[in-house]
Amino acid sequence: MVDAFSFPGIGAVRFGVDRVERLSQDILSIDDNCETVILISDAGVAKAGLVERLKLILNHAGLDVILFTDIFGEPQSKDVEAATAVVRRCDHACIIGLGGGSALDVAKIAGVIAAEDRPAEDYALSAHPFPAPRYKQILIPTTAGTGSEVTRSAVFTTHDRRKVWTWGYELAPDLVILDPRLTVSSPVQVTAASGLDALVHAIEACTCQQRNAFINSFGLQAIRLGKQHLMAAIRNPEDLDARGGMQLAATLAGIAFANTGTAAAHSIGHALATIADVPHGRAVAIGLDAILAWNAEFLPEAFDDVADALGCPGGAPDAVTAFRSLIEQTGLKRSLADLDIDPKVLAEAMMSKENMPMLENNARPISADDALELARRALSV
Ligand SMILES: [Fe+2]
Repeated sequence: MVDAFSFPGIGAVRFGVDRVERLSQDILSIDDNCETVILISDAGVAKAGLVERLKLILNHAGLDVILFTDIFGEPQSKDVEAATAVVRRCDHACIIGLGGGSALDVAKIAGVIAAEDRPAEDYALSAHPFPAPRYKQILIPTTAGTGSEVTRSAVFTTHDRRKVWTWGYELAPDLVILDPRLTVSSPVQVTAASGLDALVHAIEACTCQQRNAFINSFGLQAIRLGKQHLMAAIRNPEDLDARGGMQLAATLAGIAFANTGTAAAHSIGHALATIADVPHGRAVAIGLDAILAWNAEFLPEAFDDVADALGCPGGAPDAVTAFRSLIEQTGLKRSLADLDIDPKVLAEAMMSKENMPMLENNARPISADDALELARRALSV
């Protein structure tokens, strides 16, 4: 018997190598009055030449481009504020978010909150509803991992260093462009961390409280594609087949977790970011490694499906070993020993107001004692 589920759908997604060459037509297909484009990206993407490439494509079609590329690393509320100020100055424009999850999240929030005069932190943890969007949004990822291009959430760090999320249907873009060639310039560590993030999204979507048979069709396929293509994309960054496979994996995983939420691995990951600045992809991979066996014991059927998608013939126990081995193969460091983190501090951060929804979405209930045990597991390697 299939459990009840509700799926709100997703907007248009256009995929293809060099699809960005048709960007102007794609923009005009959703807003035929568009004359100006606000291109929000980050410093790394600009350095790789991708911002300039898109600007030339747009200028060639007669569109004016306003650039905002002052994003360095994971976004702070001040980055969102600065981008929002640029958007507020333009009345008739489309917004493009170009980059990894950080740039896309800044573009998503700025594009929506520019319609009213509140600071970004008012919307943290969805404490205040979003205004109706005034600008069409196009999201173009240059990494394969966060799935931000298809989620209705965004993450930023507050001025008092809390990593917080915000959520709303208004954050969904009008158009997503997936062009595998744009991910070729991702550094190896970014390819590794974002690819593992995508796998964690997919695995958590298929095994959390909100899992359902419909979403499994996205999540399990994302796991298969991630398993098939991640190491090839790391070993040969120019391999467009592997890059395209990872883009599909990330977007399918994004659709999956946008509808189920993530679970305890993300709670551990966000807590590690808050207390020790561990970057997101590595942090959630460590989180999943810490909790995989504990969760699989509770929910063997769901984890057998995950194991199958990972190509592990021995079922869930095999998947635990395979995931640890995959982290090591990617070159990411599993051990956090050098950071000297107190497990009690980590457990407390996992149970903070901002991380509790993810912890509560874990299929296996987590008590305060369990959180401490999981924190110990995360720190024991
Ligand atoms: Fe994530």
